[in-house]
Amino acid sequence: MSRRDCDFRWRCSRRCVPFGRDNVPCRRGALKRAGADVLDVSTGQTVADQRPVYGRMWQTPFADRIRNEIGIPTIAVGNIFEADHVNSIIAAGRADLCALARPHLSNPAWTLSAAAEQKFQEQCWPEPYLSGKAQLERNLERAAQAVGPV
Ligand SMILES: Cc1cc2nc3c(=O)[nH]c(=O)nc-3n(C[C@H](O)[C@H](O)[C@H](O)COP(=O)(O)O)c2cc1C
Repeated sequence: MSRRDCDFRWRCSRRCVPFGRDNVPCRRGALKRAGADVLDVSTGQTVADQRPVYGRMWQTPFADRIRNEIGIPTIAVGNIFEADHVNSIIAAGRADLCALARPHLSNPAWTLSAAAEQKFQEQCWPEPYLSGKAQLERNLERAAQAVGPV
């Protein structure tokens, strides 16, 4: 069972940090006991004095704390838009999954493109798209050769 959790707050005392005093992650222990297998961690931005810090991967600190302080697997969301963002979040143990929304609005085949860029061969492509896969991989290879060894 997955649950979308949106009521985390960017409350300010002196410093703006994820979780104010009234919003400690321990409250999520109740969700774990209730049988939540994974939490999709978003922020509701529901209080007037919030001071969200927008930027790349901006909600990942919440997913990180819930995963590592409570022990519930998490899905990180929010301005994650490159495969490297996903890989670094997962490799660092900050979340168990990443979900991307807006990148798919400009490129519905974002996952396919990212898999080709990462040379991830296990990605399943719809059969009618396979000529696009071959072309993309060829072009990526040519671009890499043009740049030369990094
Ligand atoms: C068109 C659109 C509609 C959305 N609607 C909702 C919504 O109704 N409730 C909600 O909690 N999040 C909503 N979201 C937020 C997404 O669920 C997701 O958490 C967020 O967009 C992830 O960040 P990203 O778009 O930077 O990848 C929406 C996002 C988009 C792009």
